[in-house]
Amino acid sequence: MTIKKKLLLSNLGMIIVPILCFFLIEIVLGMMFFVFPNQEMEENSLRAFVNYRFLLMLLVIILTNAGLTYLVSRTIIGPVQQLGEAANQIKAGNLNQAVDTNYKGELGDLATSFEAMRKSLKDAQEKEAMYEQNRRELISSISHDLRTPVTSIKGYVQGVSDGVANTPEKLNRYMKTISQKTNELERMIDELFLFSKLDVEQVSLQYSSIDIDHFLRDIIEEWSFQYPEIIFDYQTGRITDLVSGDREQLYRVVSNILHNGWKYKGALPLHIAIFVEQVQDEIKIAITDNGIGIAEGALPGIFDPFYRSDYSRNSETGGSGLGLAIVKKIVEAHGGEVYAKSEMNLGTTIYFSIKAGEQHETSIDH
Ligand SMILES: Nc1ncnc2c1ncn2[C@@H]1O[C@H](COP(=O)(O)OP(=O)(O)OP(=O)(O)O)[C@@H](O)[C@H]1O
Ligand SMILES: [Mg+2]
Repeated sequence: MTIKKKLLLSNLGMIIVPILCFFLIEIVLGMMFFVFPNQEMEENSLRAFVNYRFLLMLLVIILTNAGLTYLVSRTIIGPVQQLGEAANQIKAGNLNQAVDTNYKGELGDLATSFEAMRKSLKDAQEKEAMYEQNRRELISSISHDLRTPVTSIKGYVQGVSDGVANTPEKLNRYMKTISQKTNELERMIDELFLFSKLDVEQVSLQYSSIDIDHFLRDIIEEWSFQYPEIIFDYQTGRITDLVSGDREQLYRVVSNILHNGWKYKGALPLHIAIFVEQVQDEIKIAITDNGIGIAEGALPGIFDPFYRSDYSRNSETGGSGLGLAIVKKIVEAHGGEVYAKSEMNLGTTIYFSIKAGEQHETSIDH
């Protein structure tokens, strides 16, 4: 029942109950004093009748008021007190105490909103704790991943200055490795920079209309030129719409995926199959390689920042584990989704989608 109704009924009760009681008292006392009076009563019956009636009415009014006030306040004050207690708990930082929402009317609505607020505060607190934990892990991963190429650069430089590279061939090899490691370091720093910008939503996407078929053909042509060893297989389904997207960022998506194909290729010549089609208002792209594959246990983590499977950590492939995390951020900013399927020693497929047609928001979302 709403508070308004409760107050209305209690006020009515405070009027109706005394009126009814008045008639009742009137009848009972009337009977006692005037219909069946005893000797004593008869003598001063009228004064006594008036006095008794007054006292009884006073009692009735006091009891009705007290009773109804108690009843109404109990149903209002109880929940309010409980909410007050919960608010104090929240103030003290304890977000675990659930609020009873089994009330009706305004108090029920208030308790439900309060409980929803407590839950969202709790979620925010948990998220905050998770971010903090992630941040710590990120910092330790960054330090570790940056240290690895630096250590090997230092080793090779030391080798050169100690004269270990005593033939032109050796020197050449050392210098090549140093240059490779420096490039790797530079790439990692670039990725890190981009990822941190994407993470704090500082990259605004420059949307333009892209013919996805041309776009992919251009990338394949460029990659075939740069990596003639890769055998590309390109197929398209039905595509009717252009994609509205940031060309540079979408290029990064495809090239990060292709880079992985190259980095994690197996012993066989690398085949990369690209398939694109439009399904309703979505452009779906699948990029499949025949590389080493990803273990089932590692698959759920590959889009997390700094995630690298044990194999990649232990190998010489290098990298920071940001490639696919960047892919995910960019794809999601384009209103799409990304996921992977993989089988060990057979290969990996990365699927992603982008909304076709309409214009999107212009900044990268969390
Ligand atoms: N095509 C693939 N084949 C096999 N493993 C893959 C493939 N793509 C990704 N992985 C696994 O997923 C992990 C995460 O990939 P991601 O691209 O994010 O990082 P990375 O390649 O290790 O480093 P970076 O891309 O920053 O240079 C990789 O370390 C690798 O273990
Ligand atoms: Mg990568």
